[in-house]
Amino acid sequence: MLILGLETSCDETSAAVVEDGRHVHSNVVASQIDLHKQYGGVVPEVAARSHVEVILPVIHEALERAGTTWGDIDGIAVTAGPGLLGSLLIGTLTARTLSVVHQKPLYAINHVVAHTFANFLIDPQPQFPLLALSVSGGHSHLLLFKSPLEYELIGRTRDDAAGEAFDKVAKMMGLPYPGGPSVGKAALEGDEHKYTLPVAKLGDSLDFSFSGLKTAVLRTLQSEVGGDFRTPSTELPSRLSELQKNDMAASFQRTVCETLTGRLLQAYHQYRPRSVVIAGGVAANTRLREEVSRQLPVEMHYAPMAYCTDNGAMIAAMGYYLATANQTTDPLKLKTDPILAI
Ligand code: KG4
Ligand code: ZN
Repeated sequence: MLILGLETSCDETSAAVVEDGRHVHSNVVASQIDLHKQYGGVVPEVAARSHVEVILPVIHEALERAGTTWGDIDGIAVTAGPGLLGSLLIGTLTARTLSVVHQKPLYAINHVVAHTFANFLIDPQPQFPLLALSVSGGHSHLLLFKSPLEYELIGRTRDDAAGEAFDKVAKMMGLPYPGGPSVGKAALEGDEHKYTLPVAKLGDSLDFSFSGLKTAVLRTLQSEVGGDFRTPSTELPSRLSELQKNDMAASFQRTVCETLTGRLLQAYHQYRPRSVVIAGGVAANTRLREEVSRQLPVEMHYAPMAYCTDNGAMIAAMGYYLATANQTTDPLKLKTDPILAI
């Protein structure tokens, strides 16, 4: 079964053709990073306009690279939420229209859940029950899957998402957007034990909290430049040395990776799943992968970086399972929901 997956929830326009939820025939991603870099973050209006401009060429290229035509496609899966409303609407309106025009069944996908399905695009296939840590710019969730379509949220961030913390800390130090990769790069040159940063104490809960950590980074950097809490964060990049930035990047990254892995291990002991996976943009972080492999008592397999950040292939992969369960959505009724819950 060939599913066309469409993803436009944030700043990547992506279309992919995936067979049986696991064999990727094409995965085209048009990133808007260069457009948003100058603003230090995603500007929703700019993102939506860019999706409009590239979505049809991106779909065309995905079909072409897969060597397919519309006749070969069995269904269309599209991100219905959560995400930026304007961005989501471009994807859903396109998918609804194509579904009607080409008479293909339509599948509405929850973006956060779909991130986990990136791990079905590689071998070996994860086993159920499956524990997933899904961490990106908009969310940090622990999910427990009984089967591909039976899942529950067992932990979540109470404030900032892990990727959001990477992005904010990068901005404080004048490192380029997106913060995850640039903090990761700076961390390679730094001492990860230079600064001791606080970890939120949430008892037995499987939740996360990253906003206190972000504030602690700010206060530490302010004192490093000899200022107090009134020192504007905009002054920090020019007053910090390369060494201070690298050491903070490494110390911050270590703290986040240890926190995420600690919760994942706690959930593992609580639920005893057969497989554990990590997913979402932050799962592209090499330090996180090292920490998870070191601490978790199961053999870990990691999806390629390109399937961790936003992509159409993970949407198509989840679409396959909705297709086999016959969970279609009427193209005239599909709801776009920027705060779609799990
Ligand atoms: O999944 P994704 O592409 O989009 C959302 O659904 O949010 O994740 C993007 C987030 C950004 O916050 C970015 O800084 C972070 O993932 N990220 C990383 C890395 N690559 C991307 N965080 C840490 N290390 C990375 N290598
Ligand atoms: Zn995402």
